[in-house]
Amino acid sequence: MLDADRIPRHVAIIMDGNGRWAAAKGVPRLAGHNAGMKAMIEIVDRADKLGIKHLTVYAFSTENWKRSAEEVSGIFKLLIKYVQSELKKIMDNNVRIRILGDPSAIPQDALRSVEKAINDTADNTGLQFNIALNYGGRDDIRRAVSSIAEEVREGKISPEDITEDTISDRLYTGKEFTGCGDPELIIRTSGEERLSNVLLWQCAYSEFVFVDDLWPDFTPEKFEKAIEVYQNRNRRYGGR
Ligand code: IPE
Ligand code: IPE
Ligand code: MG
Repeated sequence: MLDADRIPRHVAIIMDGNGRWAAAKGVPRLAGHNAGMKAMIEIVDRADKLGIKHLTVYAFSTENWKRSAEEVSGIFKLLIKYVQSELKKIMDNNVRIRILGDPSAIPQDALRSVEKAINDTADNTGLQFNIALNYGGRDDIRRAVSSIAEEVREGKISPEDITEDTISDRLYTGKEFTGCGDPELIIRTSGEERLSNVLLWQCAYSEFVFVDDLWPDFTPEKFEKAIEVYQNRNRRYGGR
């Protein structure tokens, strides 16, 4: 049973396996991404009901540009489609949408649609739904380092004043951006057991739950199971 008093504050999900799901069904990869979007909507809904404060989904990595132009543009088209069709429900549920990642490379129409969702939901106080889009953990750290270097050059801070918080604050998860902080739990679907460049700094003490289900098959019930696994872990943070 889920312990309602120990729901993690921030859960991140590496939504993997859309392509394999499509291949197994003999349908185009984009049909897999479409099914993946539907699964994601269900998980957002459940995360909200469970009282999770921040849900981060890894939707597109800085490495995913290596895929065919057709697949990449298809993924962004699906994003536009579902942001539009879901926005009313998102508003009704008081969910706030944020983006983690570098927006500059995102196709204009997708960016406009996502920015509208970010603006429309800016005052919502319920679940914060972070979409990691053109996100890379190394790029996240690189940007933070670059901004700190700039402040050192301007004489605003000195090198010996740089603490771990100085870095954390400047990441996409930091208080200068989305404020969602480090995830207590990172879930990855599809049987792969790697981070693929997500939240590299932030995962220092995250718990990992890997499940074999391909992302479109990941149901809210399986999501709750993963949280239950997390609740049964013994987190020690290096202490005894
Ligand atoms: C995850 O599914 C979605 C994205 C990375 C955009 P994949 O497309 O990686 O699916 P597999 O890993 O090929 O099965
Ligand atoms: C990770 O999945 C990225 C997202 C889920 C957005 P990938 O399918 O891109 O990762 P690799 O290539 O298997 O490491
Ligand atoms: Mg994959």
